[in-house]
Amino acid sequence: MEAKLILNKNFQVGEIDERIYGSFIEHLGRAVYNGIYEPSHPTSDDQGFRKDVMEMVKQLNVPIVRYPGGNFVSGYNWEDGTGDKKKRPRRAELAWHVIETNEVGIDEFQEWAKRVGSKVMQAVNLGTRGADEARNLLEYCNFPKGTYYSDMRRANGFEEPFDIKVWCLGNEMDGSWQICSKTAEEYGRIACETAKVMKELDPSIELVACGSSSMYMPTFGKWEATVLDHTYEYVDYLSLHSYYGNKDNDTATFLACSLGMNQFIKSVTAICDYVKAIKHSDKTMYLSFDEWNVWFHSNDADQKLERWQIAPHQLEDIYTFEDALVVGCLLITLLKNCDRVKMACLAQLVNVIAPIMTENGGSAWAQTIFYPFMHASNYGRGVALTPVVNCDTYSTEKVKDVPYVEAIGILNEEKNELTVFAVNRSLDDNINLEIDLRDFTNAKLLEHIVMEHDDMKAVNSADHPDNVIPKNNGVTTIGSSTATAVLNKHSWNVIRFQ
Ligand code: AHR
Repeated sequence: MEAKLILNKNFQVGEIDERIYGSFIEHLGRAVYNGIYEPSHPTSDDQGFRKDVMEMVKQLNVPIVRYPGGNFVSGYNWEDGTGDKKKRPRRAELAWHVIETNEVGIDEFQEWAKRVGSKVMQAVNLGTRGADEARNLLEYCNFPKGTYYSDMRRANGFEEPFDIKVWCLGNEMDGSWQICSKTAEEYGRIACETAKVMKELDPSIELVACGSSSMYMPTFGKWEATVLDHTYEYVDYLSLHSYYGNKDNDTATFLACSLGMNQFIKSVTAICDYVKAIKHSDKTMYLSFDEWNVWFHSNDADQKLERWQIAPHQLEDIYTFEDALVVGCLLITLLKNCDRVKMACLAQLVNVIAPIMTENGGSAWAQTIFYPFMHASNYGRGVALTPVVNCDTYSTEKVKDVPYVEAIGILNEEKNELTVFAVNRSLDDNINLEIDLRDFTNAKLLEHIVMEHDDMKAVNSADHPDNVIPKNNGVTTIGSSTATAVLNKHSWNVIRFQ
């Protein structure tokens, strides 16, 4: 099969906000305990953080990490996780039905984030709590000194403010599963008033209001419009969440799920712009896609989990090769919308629906989805060029007109590099992708990385961590004004030029 990708320096989606490569750590399963934090582990540092995990997070180059939830945050008392560890309470945690020991809280997490070179995206509890708790936590984190909560932070050993810039106003408040879920009116009002007090206290922060928990919620659309009607002036981003799966084992349809993500983003953008218009506002609302990933492998096991354990194996999806292709397509889709999607969080980062897995007391290893994320985060910085892709399409019972090639070009002017990310969705055919390089005279090929596997269900594991890994063996030939890259059937490709 033949396909063509036209890239032009003058046709740009926009500058990529690096926070599009964010991720997420929730107090859930083994994300925190026995994930990032395991004091008895041989690699652990002075604070009990696993250094092997930190090294892998650094490889992913994650600029911002959402914390502490997720559903967890809607029942969380942040004070439980501060101060003397010996005095911290154990709580019955109602979102995931486990015991929360509170050994890690914001004091420790902001330190961990610093050590891995990330910023914190902090969520506040708008479930069981409200504006009062949110402003107290903000005062604890960001106020320099001389007030009750800032002095509490200093007494806990943190003289300097944590200076957390991005704050989420609750989590998935439309979901019936959420602790103290709300109607759009109820949430719109509490989010508006919480936003006001938080910005009074620290006008430098940015706020994210909750959009729908997914595009398939019955209130989707109306929820966004109502919430924005209340909050438009006070918040900076609206959130989107979406998870994808292949329960029916229909790979061709699964590989097309990024088209649904694209439609979701376009719909939410349209609603934001509708509210902008009726408010006669000059302000543009940006999007924070702060939960996205593949999530379905662990669903059945989680149904059977015994309640009230500490750090059980929960939401531990083991990702296949085809999941990595989907994650590649989803990353390209986020980049295609980077004019509006300024932040996005791969949910999550360690053990819980995560690219990084650990064994308690043992090794840390990379799942298949680790690699496309690592490539995008490291090479996908700069400006996203508007991709014009000419290629054949396919249809399945559930999706129509799916392009075989998903691709985008990223121009990094600082490094003088052009990187093309491309997925070949075909399960049968290689595709020769002609890349029009007219605008990039004298471009030289740096490398063509390929991730492929004969078995779509191949996985990595602690014993076989290198079963599915990228190789630097792609075939790309350069002509005078074009390059031709061979996209092997069902493969993820990173083609780098200078
Ligand atoms: O990421 C796992 C869960 O998915 C989060 O806690 C919640 O926000 C979403 O439903």
